[in-house]
Amino acid sequence: MVTRPDTATKLATDVSTMFDEVSPRYDLINDVLTVGNDRLWRIATTKAIAPRKGMRVLDLAAGTGTSSAAIAKHGAHVVAADFSEGMLAEGRKRHVGNELIEFVFADATALPFEDDSFDAATISYGLRNVHEPRKALAEMLRVVKPGGRVVIAEFSTPPSQLVRVPYGLYGRHVLPRVAGFINGEAAEAYRYLNESIEDWPTQEKLASWLREAGFERVAYRNLTFGIVALHRGFVPRKKAVEAAAEAPIENPKPAKKAPAKKPAASAATKPAATAKPAQSAKKPAAKKPATVKPATAKPAATKKASSAAAAKPAGAKPAATKPAGATPAKATKAEPK
Ligand SMILES: C[S@@+](CC[C@H](N)C(=O)[O-])C[C@H]1O[C@@H](n2cnc3c(N)ncnc32)[C@H](O)[C@@H]1O
Repeated sequence: MVTRPDTATKLATDVSTMFDEVSPRYDLINDVLTVGNDRLWRIATTKAIAPRKGMRVLDLAAGTGTSSAAIAKHGAHVVAADFSEGMLAEGRKRHVGNELIEFVFADATALPFEDDSFDAATISYGLRNVHEPRKALAEMLRVVKPGGRVVIAEFSTPPSQLVRVPYGLYGRHVLPRVAGFINGEAAEAYRYLNESIEDWPTQEKLASWLREAGFERVAYRNLTFGIVALHRGFVPRKKAVEAAAEAPIENPKPAKKAPAKKPAASAATKPAATAKPAQSAKKPAAKKPATVKPATAKPAATKKASSAAAAKPAGAKPAATKPAGATPAKATKAEPK
């Protein structure tokens, strides 16, 4: 029997164990259940990331690296990070020889990467499985360079009842059975996956989380009637610490405080991220998750202009609700992610 995490807690050990267990047939089940939709969603996601040769992209919760391969195809170097050893092992096997993909064990809530070490970050069907998704957003903000983007592909809430109702029924009753048929033991896992989709915040809510984390120009668009939503946000060009450093000092005494001089936050003190391996020499424990380099030791909020961005009106760029032209008008909830 495959582990079924509790949707309320999403204990990290349960989630990673569940993915370890389904990893050998994960992509096969996906292919069957999505009937091609997930490939189209990936195309839209990759387009939103806009990867180019020379870019260094973090693919968080990368699983077996299917999402990473789509990005690497465009010449970008992809760090495929995940906390399921089973999924990573499957990914390494599948993408052996692809020098543009580097699989790294990492917990999304405590990334073992330097500040500003990526040009972009993305997470496909992973954020919903993270026990503390807002911590993961803060971590993405921390590791992406100013001006870089973050793209999130996740199951969402179809705005129309005509889609939402049959989609809900499909997820509750059909999806686990079909998954169980393909992999006898996987039904429980797919029950959890459906519950986690039902529990997941709406498009607007997730957009507000992104803004609160400190991202700017936050927007989303629905794919396939909102069964999936693609969110994106940009890391502010001006960091809080830089802004503080530039501010005129009116009282010489506070100069002592100067906590703003966190070296990692200054681009001038850091080498180009593209030249830096995922596991930086400064952080030799890169292959270890949270326990080795706890995110709390370096909260993203201290580095980037989260408060400033949060103050930015949501209307900086209104969320689009236009369905992706690339996706077929299918109301299936077949994606077992
Ligand atoms: C549904 S799979 C998505 C895989 C891949 N992105 C794709 O599009 O096929 C979700 C992945 O999220 C990973 N995951 C969940 N919580 C995580 C966390 N806190 N840190 C790292 N990975 C996590 C799981 O191990 C799993 O591989």
